[in-house]
Amino acid sequence: MATAIKKAPAKAVAKKAVTTNVQKNSVKNGSNGIHKNGANGAANAAPKAAPKAVAGKIPAKKGTGSFSEVAGKYCVRDIKQAEEGRKLIEWAESRMPVLMHIREKYKKAQPFKGLRLAGSLHVTKETAVLVETFAALGADVSWSGCNPLSTNDPVAAALAKGGISIFAWYGNHEDFYWCIERTIDLKPHLTLDDGCDLINTVHEHYADFAKTQVIGGTEETTTGVHRLRSRAAAGKLFYPVFAVNDAETKWDFDNVYGTGQSTLDGILRATSVMLAGKTFVVAGHGHCGQGVAKRAKGMGSNIIITEIKATSAMKGILEGYRVMSMDDAAKEGDIFCTATGVKDIIRKQHFLSMKNGAIICNTGHYDAEINLAELASVAKNKRTIRPNCEEYTLKNGKKIFVLAEGRLVNLAAAEGHPSEVMDMSFANQLMCHISLAEAHKAGKKLPNQVIDIDPAQDEFIAETKLRTMGMKMDKLSKEQLRYINDYNAGT
Ligand code: ADE
Repeated sequence: MATAIKKAPAKAVAKKAVTTNVQKNSVKNGSNGIHKNGANGAANAAPKAAPKAVAGKIPAKKGTGSFSEVAGKYCVRDIKQAEEGRKLIEWAESRMPVLMHIREKYKKAQPFKGLRLAGSLHVTKETAVLVETFAALGADVSWSGCNPLSTNDPVAAALAKGGISIFAWYGNHEDFYWCIERTIDLKPHLTLDDGCDLINTVHEHYADFAKTQVIGGTEETTTGVHRLRSRAAAGKLFYPVFAVNDAETKWDFDNVYGTGQSTLDGILRATSVMLAGKTFVVAGHGHCGQGVAKRAKGMGSNIIITEIKATSAMKGILEGYRVMSMDDAAKEGDIFCTATGVKDIIRKQHFLSMKNGAIICNTGHYDAEINLAELASVAKNKRTIRPNCEEYTLKNGKKIFVLAEGRLVNLAAAEGHPSEVMDMSFANQLMCHISLAEAHKAGKKLPNQVIDIDPAQDEFIAETKLRTMGMKMDKLSKEQLRYINDYNAGT
């Protein structure tokens, strides 16, 4: 049914509620809350208010609906989905040979023995393989999602059933920070982020704890690394954090091929439209935008790029795309996908000049790229026309379709990047945490900086991946090595 629009669209979820077996254990002194032990919980103003455990009491959730919950241990949608989730995890394991290889390699050494790790990253089948690898290598793990619409509920249930402390469910708008807080109750030595929400919460609400107890962390995504570098530049980074996103075996593969494939997957699942012959506007021609444009072109779309960076725009031109401003692209596009990390890329003036039937989505980390409040202000009603697809009828009579509430369409409407490519990204996550644990055990303190990935780690991961794919490479002979290093060699 269509609803009249008065103000900004509510962030309600267009997904069917699942049946649940609620085990609402009463929330008592079950948590090992940080505050109880005197770490700083007062803190500076955090970006978003987050309920904290006071004197060991876990605050109530705001969200309604039913959950499977054991206080201080897990809160997922329905623990009965665990079997379904376990099969998905097994499927991912079979396609993540690098991660499984590292799991085997370090199993005996137990590098994380005695260490606690909190993670905030999309709860997918691939993430579950990473989480269970940390646990297999000795870590005590607590996990939350990093986006309200990216948790796979059966996978979350399987992790909970397997003994992982996890706080995550699909459609978690109201309790997003509640879940992050519950992972911090574990008092982590290590943090693992995708988008920096965990790091921000620890730094803003638990500054003393961050300064004195946390050994280090990692950050998965471009937007998160951007945030992290700003924090470090401001002198506000209290522990070392590896920029996993910037590994060659991450951003040249996951960001390009993972985002490219999964974004089209999300668009197709949400719309089922034909891509051939459509004008497809990609906002941002960085690694992610390049992947989306490449794959949309491969499906027969005509690509328009919008950019602020001349070199990225130039790369688009040499791929045979058109480059123009969003003001101009808005009039031509059939499908729009933002991949910039910047807010307000598509806004009121653009909605008003779009064609009837235009489809808009985002594949950037945050839901800020499409200004939905401005869309609501020029619309007279909206309705959910298909799962993850909302139809806005504008006051000018045209219809515009927004996918997945402007959240990352590849995870909200599809299953995220394929296991094969997450294999390398998550091998980087794991290797960085092993470095942090080993440095700690050796009594070494890494600087409180954003740390780049060792190229030897990239090479190890790429080589391992190639080996598991049955590929062989050439090796330089001694003579070839001498030749390339000979500054006198010439014509
Ligand atoms: N980010 C993008 N795709 C992902 C996936 N499959 N798992 C976890 N994080 C992701």
